[in-house]
Amino acid sequence: MAEEELKPYLITDPAEMSVRIDELRAQGKKIGLVPTMGALHLGHLSLAIASKNECDVTVVSDFVNPTQFAPGEDYEQYPRNLDADITLLSQIGSDFIFAPSPAQMYPRGFEANVHVGGVTKTLEGAFRPTHFDGVCTVVLKLFNITRADVAYFGQKDYQQVCVVKKMVADLNVPTQIAMRPIIRERDGLAMSSRNRYLSDDERRQALVLSKSLDKAEELIKGGERDASVVLDAMREIIATAPSAKIDYLHIGDPDTLGAMERIAGSVVILEAVRIGSTRLIDNKLVERK
Ligand code: PAF
Repeated sequence: MAEEELKPYLITDPAEMSVRIDELRAQGKKIGLVPTMGALHLGHLSLAIASKNECDVTVVSDFVNPTQFAPGEDYEQYPRNLDADITLLSQIGSDFIFAPSPAQMYPRGFEANVHVGGVTKTLEGAFRPTHFDGVCTVVLKLFNITRADVAYFGQKDYQQVCVVKKMVADLNVPTQIAMRPIIRERDGLAMSSRNRYLSDDERRQALVLSKSLDKAEELIKGGERDASVVLDAMREIIATAPSAKIDYLHIGDPDTLGAMERIAGSVVILEAVRIGSTRLIDNKLVERK
C-alpha cells in the first residue's frame, strides 16, 4: 500500500472527533486512545502499536497541554512538529491523529478543573503542584471526546499512570487504563521528548538515571532490604555526573507510591534528576512474588 494511504486522518476539531467516534462506536468498533504531547518517539509508537493490536480504531492525540505547565516551565520551548508526527504514525497505520489548538480545548470562559488528591501530592506533585490538575483535566476531556475503550500510557510517567487510574476509578470513567513498558535507547536512557534538550555532554551524563536504577534493582534482587542503603547507592552513581541535581529518589509501593523504609514485596523506584537545565524522570518496577 502506498504511504499516502496509511496516513492517519488529521482532526483538529473536538466536535468532529466525537462525531467520527460515535459513527465508529455505532459499528461496534473498540476505540484505543494514545494521549501524547507530540514530538513522537519510539516510546509513543510502542503505545500506538499496542492499541493497533488490541483495538479496532486507534486515535493518537497530539496536543501540548498548556494547563499542565507552570509559569517558567518549558511550555513554549516544548518541541512541536506535527508533520514529523504524522509521518511516524503513517508507518504504523494509526487511524486518527487528533491535534486540536489550545483555543479549541480551552475556549474562552473555560473554568473546569479536575483535581485528584492523595497520590498527586508527592514526588512530581511536590515539585510541580499544579501539574496533575492540568493532566487530569486534559485527559478527562480526551476520554470524553474520543469515548476511548482503552487508553495507553507509558510507564515512564509512572506517577501519572497512578493518578489517571485513581481519577478513572473515583469518577467512574468507563475507560480502561493500559500501562506499557518504558522504551529505552540502546545505552539505557529512557526515551523522552525532552532528551532533545540535552547537549552531547549532558546526554552522556544523563545515563546516571538508568544506571542508578539498575544498581538499585541489583541490590534489591541481591537481598538488600534497607531502602536507605539502596538510595545511597543511587546517589553515589548520580553524583558522578557533574551537572546532575537530584529532585527526588524514592522507593515506594507500586500502587500507592507510599515510601518504604524496609523493602518488602514489589516496589517501584522513582527518580527525578536535573541534568543542567533539563529535568528528567525515570523509574523501575522491581517485582518480587
Ligand atoms: O504524558 C503526556 O505526554 C501528557 O501528560 C498527557 C498524558 C498527553 C496529557 O497531556
